[in-house]
Amino acid sequence: MSSLLIDNIGELFTNDEDFPLGHRRRAAVLVDRNRIAWVGSSYHAPSADRRIDVDGAAVLPGFVDSHAHLVFAGDRAAEFAARMAGEPYTGGGIRTTVGATRSATDDELRGATGRLVEEARRQGTTTIEIKSGYGLTVEDEVRSLRIAREFTEETTLLGAHVVPAEHTDNPWRYVSIVSGPMLAAAKAYAKWMDVFCERGAFDEDQARTILTAGRAAGLGVRLHGNQLGPGPGVQLGVELGAASVDHCTYLSEEDVDALAGSSTVATLLPGAEFSTRSPYPDGRRLLDAGVTVALATDCNPGSSYTSSMPFCIALAVREMGMTPAEAVRAATAGGAAALERSDVGVVRAGGRADLIVLDAPSHLHLAYRPGVPLIRNVLHDGVLR
Ligand code: NIG
Ligand code: FE
Repeated sequence: MSSLLIDNIGELFTNDEDFPLGHRRRAAVLVDRNRIAWVGSSYHAPSADRRIDVDGAAVLPGFVDSHAHLVFAGDRAAEFAARMAGEPYTGGGIRTTVGATRSATDDELRGATGRLVEEARRQGTTTIEIKSGYGLTVEDEVRSLRIAREFTEETTLLGAHVVPAEHTDNPWRYVSIVSGPMLAAAKAYAKWMDVFCERGAFDEDQARTILTAGRAAGLGVRLHGNQLGPGPGVQLGVELGAASVDHCTYLSEEDVDALAGSSTVATLLPGAEFSTRSPYPDGRRLLDAGVTVALATDCNPGSSYTSSMPFCIALAVREMGMTPAEAVRAATAGGAAALERSDVGVVRAGGRADLIVLDAPSHLHLAYRPGVPLIRNVLHDGVLR
């Protein structure tokens, strides 16, 4: 059987200007193998090998989680508990996870990553970016990326996550390793290069050196910036034509203007603010300025141990001034823009057959009913789960 008709859709959230949200009730989508073949009204639906009647449920594009750190061992639950008792988040715990990750076997890392990918998929994520960044040696970063590649084509070298303990006496020595031998060995397994550009991690010059090398090696560039305080991340990202600057919690007027005048996406990661008890980024301000906004989980054992895009949507609506439609769009089309993908994050003929059927009549319920498992079915690359 190759074609599948998803019929009797109560609300189809397309992200397609030609067939926008709520445009028609009783919509239908025809899927042929792993592609969307047709989108329209149930009354005109073509026949198919198989039909499922979703009985008025809402259907959306699969979520595109454009920022996740899934290759690691262990957890940092005690660090979370200490934060909830008043300790600040500094990123210092990253080195704890580096130690655990270096000691893990390939199979342990593969198993842990696979469990998180599956957990994300159950919550509607059909495209996920996975970063390295808990190995911080040439060998361990390559190993992390090789494992990440088993799960996604959206892989990112984050050798510049923090300066590992053995190089703190000379951070530039580590910058040379990342932009030299590490990049050379890892580029076969990575689409993107990322840097944590923040006080306590890498400064502007170091980040520029690393990202410029990544670009010269043929990788796309993105960076973590403006998470823990104001900083140069956004300006550097725009200067380098980065696909995305991620976090964007502390922005000046100049930062917002720079983003608005560029094609760089602002990727907001409210799971991190939730888990570090920090102020949320101002999604409303960015949208009003005309910036393309993405929402992602930042799933990692330190600052944001959630794989749930619905949770991030609820936070964006409740805490960041975004409407439910804006938040869903940021979690789908926004993520696709951050990954420079036109085949996902949209329900349009020709796109990849990645769809979510909700246990609800409207996308509004994702924020309206927080914490409730509303993902009834996930169609991923044409396969219904
Ligand atoms: O995106 N900010 C840097 N990296 C992660 C946190 C990693 C960790 O704490 O283990 C982030 O929040
Ligand atoms: Fe991150």
